[in-house]
Amino acid sequence: MKLPEIIQGGMGIGVSGWELAKEVALNGQLGVVSGTALDVMMARKLQGGDRGGHIRRALDAFPDQKMAGRILDRYFVNRGIKDRFRFKQVPRFSLNPSEELVELTVIANFVEVYLAKEGHEGQVGINLLEKIQMPNLYSLYGAMLAGVDYVIMGAGIPLEIPGIMDKLTRHEKVRLTLTVEEASPEDDFAMTFDPVSFFREFNGPLEVLPRPAFLPIVSSNVLAMVMMQKATGKVDGLIVEEHCAGGHNAPPRGKMNLSDEGEPIYGPKDGVNLDKLKELNVPFWLAGNYGDEEHFQKAREAGAAGVQVGTAFQFCRESGLAAEFKAKIMETIKKGVARVFTDPLASPTGFPFKVISFGESLSEKLDFLSRPRICDLGYLRRIYKKADGSLGYRCPAEPKEAYVAKGGKVEDTEGRKCLCNALLANISLPRMQLTGYLEKPLVTAGTCLEMMKSFIDRGMSSYSAKDVITAILGARPAVVKSR
Ligand SMILES: Cc1cc2nc3c(=O)[nH]c(=O)nc-3n(C[C@H](O)[C@H](O)[C@H](O)COP(=O)(O)O)c2cc1C
Repeated sequence: MKLPEIIQGGMGIGVSGWELAKEVALNGQLGVVSGTALDVMMARKLQGGDRGGHIRRALDAFPDQKMAGRILDRYFVNRGIKDRFRFKQVPRFSLNPSEELVELTVIANFVEVYLAKEGHEGQVGINLLEKIQMPNLYSLYGAMLAGVDYVIMGAGIPLEIPGIMDKLTRHEKVRLTLTVEEASPEDDFAMTFDPVSFFREFNGPLEVLPRPAFLPIVSSNVLAMVMMQKATGKVDGLIVEEHCAGGHNAPPRGKMNLSDEGEPIYGPKDGVNLDKLKELNVPFWLAGNYGDEEHFQKAREAGAAGVQVGTAFQFCRESGLAAEFKAKIMETIKKGVARVFTDPLASPTGFPFKVISFGESLSEKLDFLSRPRICDLGYLRRIYKKADGSLGYRCPAEPKEAYVAKGGKVEDTEGRKCLCNALLANISLPRMQLTGYLEKPLVTAGTCLEMMKSFIDRGMSSYSAKDVITAILGARPAVVKSR
């Protein structure tokens, strides 16, 4: 497989949707869909009437048509629900998710990858997060059924995933060990998934699936080495993400010290030694402020196969970020007042999370404080062991009393933002709470806003994914063959 020079970063929820990934793949680079919360995203789009019929077209290609039909029965509303944001809830994940949720998750991942790969020979990847463990077996299988070429995984140490992918190629039963807070060393909590039982109503053959390449995202030499030496299957390359990248960032090593403005302070120890990395003899890509030709060339000179770029793609025409937010943010960049803040508290994961300020968004203190705390999606809930040995689920962004009643520390709830709901608001799929409160956005971006500025300076009011690729490579990309 020819290695891509540019990996368009997975950006959840739905910022890197199939439209963006397809456009990047068509232009000869690796288009990546975000696999985060695709179940709820697809359910909401179906309730919105599935404009363009894309989801229904992909559902027609799913092997088990009875299952695809059940998804339509549950969620599709012709011409969309009357109250635009009163979406039906989808079930939440737990150790034993309902069949309905398993079907929805496998199919949603199939649909997203199918649409990104439809009609061309370019390459498509999916981005999953080790921190959001519970959907991962189903997400992987759905993406692999649609022939995903790469699986990219960050936010943790996904040692078990390569071996799981090997088994899923043969539709074998798989098992994923879960991280459980307050568990004792002898505990062994896991989720399992059996593709054959999943497809029990399907009479057709289950052919061997191609094994996607696996690229974990790392931010230290130690983590890179652990992945290469201890993973349960082949690791095909590494993405090295620096702390200036958009989205979540690895925390600084050692005790976290904050600047006067309240941002984590990173030092030389937080960088990756590329000479040492090269000793691992695998291709690697650099991420974090590599969205132009100068930085791309630097990465190549340092021995990288290429770069992974997020922020520059987030504001292009084909990304899923709502057009109104793109326009507002571009305006702040144009005026030179755009500010990206590395918030050490915002994310319930505990990882620093970059936030860009603009008008009405949860980045503004008053907007944040006026949001009634609610946890109705729960992707970032952590699993914990109760005193009686059973398992519970809690998120530091849920209502404080509920979190504390589950044994969580009240200080852990300070400043935590509900990323699940906010990120859906970013892509025009906010849910209206029963109180009438409509979720507000919270947009992340890297610190590399100069790239967008250069587009604005050239008089372009909006730009395409192809423009980003051209700007990075310094040449028009070669378009791949259509099928
Ligand atoms: C809006 C946005 C959302 C992101 N979401 C994810 C994600 O869900 N998973 C992930 O591994 N990385 C995520 N990232 C990181 C990107 O995949 C990429 O590594 C990073 O953006 C590269 O740095 P840059 O922003 O300077 O280009 C996100 C980045 C942005 C800007």
